[in-house]
Amino acid sequence: MKRMLSVAGYTLVLCACNTSALPPAPPASPSHNPGAAQHDPANPPIDCPLHAQGIKPDHLRPFAEVSKYIEFLERPDRALWQKPDAVVDALALVGSETVVDVGAGSGYFSFRFAKALPSGKVVAADTEAEMVRHLHHRALTAGVKNLEAKLITPSDPGVTNLTDWVFICDVLHHVEDRPAWLDKLSQALKPGARMALIEFKEGKLPQGPPESVKLTRAELIRLVSQAGLVLEAEHAELLPYQVFLVFKKP
Ligand SMILES: C[S@@+](CC[C@H](N)C(=O)[O-])C[C@H]1O[C@@H](n2cnc3c(N)ncnc32)[C@H](O)[C@@H]1O
Repeated sequence: MKRMLSVAGYTLVLCACNTSALPPAPPASPSHNPGAAQHDPANPPIDCPLHAQGIKPDHLRPFAEVSKYIEFLERPDRALWQKPDAVVDALALVGSETVVDVGAGSGYFSFRFAKALPSGKVVAADTEAEMVRHLHHRALTAGVKNLEAKLITPSDPGVTNLTDWVFICDVLHHVEDRPAWLDKLSQALKPGARMALIEFKEGKLPQGPPESVKLTRAELIRLVSQAGLVLEAEHAELLPYQVFLVFKKP
């Protein structure tokens, strides 16, 4: 199902990459699809990445549930301790890199990376189709052209040998088979590529997941080193509640 939206002179075909901000769509039927009739081959629609990956967004669960999680990730007070701009600055990007934000969620970091990469790009990858829909919609409506929303599977982080930086914040503890996942990630990277890894510190903290799912700093270093990446730096003082490590593919 497609909807037309006029943004800065461009007609975008949203391909049901809607959020609750848009009115409910009419039932799917070819006769209700004006976008198809008006399709102009010279100006092809910016298609939804879910369609490109064979998912029918019309079949996703209601957006309300996801929008609550997005609100949680984007809560204003998070910036006080998450320091997203300082985290992006700490990577010292030159601006032409390709960064893959694995488990991007709402795009809390992805949209900041997009700004820091005027001649590069960010791939905002997530396993939740609703998040990918949100990321794509947000990029389209905000006119962010160097952000690609990508649906990945839980067993494949979706990085390639074109990736300069992998960014993973509060995701690794969600991954089931961490050694296999990290092996896949490491094998896909070219020599010299880097990975920034952020996870919550152990102990009672005002933020973060339950203690039972946390990974210790030593465990993080062990897991990533076993996958063949080398610890290059640690931003130990930057974040009050999280470990922030940088690894490099030798
Ligand atoms: C706590 S959120 C963090 C989002 C974002 N990185 C941030 O810091 O705001 C965790 C995200 O990881 C995604 N996720 C869970 N399992 C994953 C996996 N195996 N591979 C990639 N992403 C995953 C979830 O869908 C969710 O969006």
